[in-house]
Parts: sequence; structure tokens; C-alpha cells
Amino acid sequence: MPGFHKLSLEERLKIIKEFSDLTKGEVEQLKGTGLEIEQADRMIENIIGTIEVPLGVATNFLINGTDRIVPMATEESSVVAAASNAARLARKLGGFTAEVSETVMIGQIQVCNVSDMKAAKNAILENTAEILRIANDQDPVLVKFGGGAKDLEVRRIESPAGEMLIIHILVDCRDAMGANAVNTMAEAVAPFIEELSGGKVYLRIISNLAERRIAKAKAIFSKEDLGEDAVDGIMKAYSFAAGDPFRCATHNKGIMNGVSAVVLATGNDTRAIEAGAHAYAAYKGSYSPLTSYEKNEEGDLVGTIELPVAVGLIGGATAVHPVAKACIKILGVKTASELGEVLAAVGLAQNFAALYALSTVGIQRGHMRLHARNIAVMAGAPPELVEKVAERLADEEKVRLDRAKEIVKELTKV
Ligand code: MEV
Repeated sequence: MPGFHKLSLEERLKIIKEFSDLTKGEVEQLKGTGLEIEQADRMIENIIGTIEVPLGVATNFLINGTDRIVPMATEESSVVAAASNAARLARKLGGFTAEVSETVMIGQIQVCNVSDMKAAKNAILENTAEILRIANDQDPVLVKFGGGAKDLEVRRIESPAGEMLIIHILVDCRDAMGANAVNTMAEAVAPFIEELSGGKVYLRIISNLAERRIAKAKAIFSKEDLGEDAVDGIMKAYSFAAGDPFRCATHNKGIMNGVSAVVLATGNDTRAIEAGAHAYAAYKGSYSPLTSYEKNEEGDLVGTIELPVAVGLIGGATAVHPVAKACIKILGVKTASELGEVLAAVGLAQNFAALYALSTVGIQRGHMRLHARNIAVMAGAPPELVEKVAERLADEEKVRLDRAKEIVKELTKV
């Protein structure tokens, strides 16, 4: 969608309305009448208002052969532009290929004070079918749609409070994120597990380390577009993250700039996704980058990403927040796994864009161009001069209020 960012707000909305077949009402909601206070009052406690976050769309995303416009809710400038730019470069060699392993979440049940661990473990495993039956009785709808508790694992862990028996019930959540279903099941099976183990159950809760709901994405960026130096620079940037946790935290933060923005726009749980991503990054022993890069035989840059994607399309805010519903429609995803594929593609795009900028011109230039507009407004530039003042500030590399005021004074002098 070349030039999309140069269109007026109304023109952009017109294109999105047509592309995604939005109703007039949905367009109005996007424009800011989205969440009524009465709806918000039903979502959390002690409501006193709502807070708006900018909602943009990333363009150019081709994911598994489908064109997608990707809604992103974020307060950070440059994130949407960077993702769109990376997606444009990825398009040339086929866009993103992405897949989600399965839609299974883990419910954990913590059993303490077990006198005979081996016997308890055996008793639980022998009664797997009955435990799963109790779990599945809690959610006949999920079971009807092919989901539900499918299996369990029994682990013994060492802890500061001694050895514990940890039961994992593995629940296929299909198109739900699954926290409610899993927590209800974990609570329901706990008394039977106490009976079988002779121990005492304490915690019964979902794990956010969703290692059975992993999204992978891959894209190839052409050497011709980037130049050999940039390909090498990105490889070096990736290696830095792979070798140093201080850099790796920022590397993964950049990935989550994109991922969390889509998660928020679609009304999903940003904290669940963040916790899962960082835990997964550390899961194999040391804290590692969620993306990786290599050069193929042609010298092109091949980027891949792997992260847990505990998101849903039904239940939670996704089902009740009118703007989140419109965002799902814009995205055009029909399953939670498709949404997971988008998240992986966006995470990879965001990271590629950051590493490309960081290893070449740096990121401040792009950031400052956007920031300059805010400074221009703060300096009192009239609307018709905002762009001009911002451009001067960026060109001079002096994006500061004092300089902005001088320029405004100069340009408004009669
Ligand atoms: C800024 O929000 C994100 C970056 O710092 C990510 C990175 O360094 O890779 C640019």
C-alpha cells in the first residue's frame, strides 16, 4: 500500500473500511467513541474512565500468501512505520511463512506434603482418564468444538519448601486464550488429586509459559535491497543479543513492541504474552533472542522467530470491546492460530526493522522525525507550519523545544 501514510485520516479510514468491509458504526468506533463507560464498568472494578491509546495499521504484510492489514495499538512512535517497512521488504521474496504448533495450554496443580512421591505419581497417572473427565465436565462447549483436557503430566520439582508434585493438565483451548477454562478445570480436579496423592493442593492456575502453543515465522530479505554491509550488520546485531543478556533484553523488547501492539489492539492479554515470551526466551538455559538470522546460499538474510502465542478470538475483552472486534475484522483472522501467525510475523518484522536501523543509520533519525512534530506543536507552530518546523528540526538534528520556538518565531514573523 504505497503512500498510505501520506493520506489523510479520512482517506485511510475509507481504504480500511473497503478492504475489511467495516460498517459505518465500526468506523465511528475506531475514531474514538469505542468503549462506552458502561461497558468498561462491566470489565474491571472501580471504573472512573477510559484511556485512549493510538491505533494504527501496519501495511504490506503478506503472511502465508494472504495480504493482511495489521492493527497495532501503541503509544510508541515509529513502531507501525518500522513494521510496515520491514513487511514491504519481506514481500519481495514471498512475505512471511508462519505456523502455530497447537493450541494447548497448561494448567498447573501444586501438591505438597506428599509422603510417597512415587506412589502418588503412579496413582495420578493411573487415573488420568477420570481426571480428564472431571476437567472436561467443566466445559462441554469447548469439548463440543474439539477442545478440552487431552492429557496430563506429573512432575517432581525441588523447591525451597522441599519436593513438590506438580500436575500439568494439557487443555486444547482452540480459539480461546483459555485462562478461564484452564483455571476452572484445575480447581475442579484438585480434590480428586488430593485424594489420589494423599498430599495437600495449594495453587491451581494456568502457566503462561505456553510451550505447547508456539508460533514460528520466517521471512527472507533480499541482499539487493539491503546491501551486503547491512546483511552483515544485522547478523552482528543478532549475535550481540545471542551473546549478551543486557542486549538481548532490548532485542526482545523490540520484538514485543510489535507483538504487544497487536495483542492490545485485538483485546488480548498483553501481560500473558509478555510473560510467555520472556520465559520462553530463557527456557533453554540462558536468556536468548526470540529471533535468529542466517545468510542463505544467495547471500540473502533469512530471519526466523519462535514464541508462545496464548491469544484467543473468543472470550475476554476480545469478545466485548467494540474496537477490538473491529480490529479482528480488519485483520481478517478466523482462528486463534491465525492470529498467532500474525503475531510471529509482526514480531519478526519489528525486530528486523530495529536491527536494520540500529546496525546502519541508528534509530534516532526515524524517531526524531516523528517526535519533531510534537515538539513543533509544543512550540506553538500553527497547524499549517507543523510539518515545516518539524522538518527543519530533524534536518538540523536539533529536535529541541528552544530551537523549535526560534523557528516558529522566524516563520511567523510578518
Ligand atoms: C525501542 O522501543 C526498541 C529497540 O530498542 C529494539 C532494539 O534495540 O532492538 C529499538
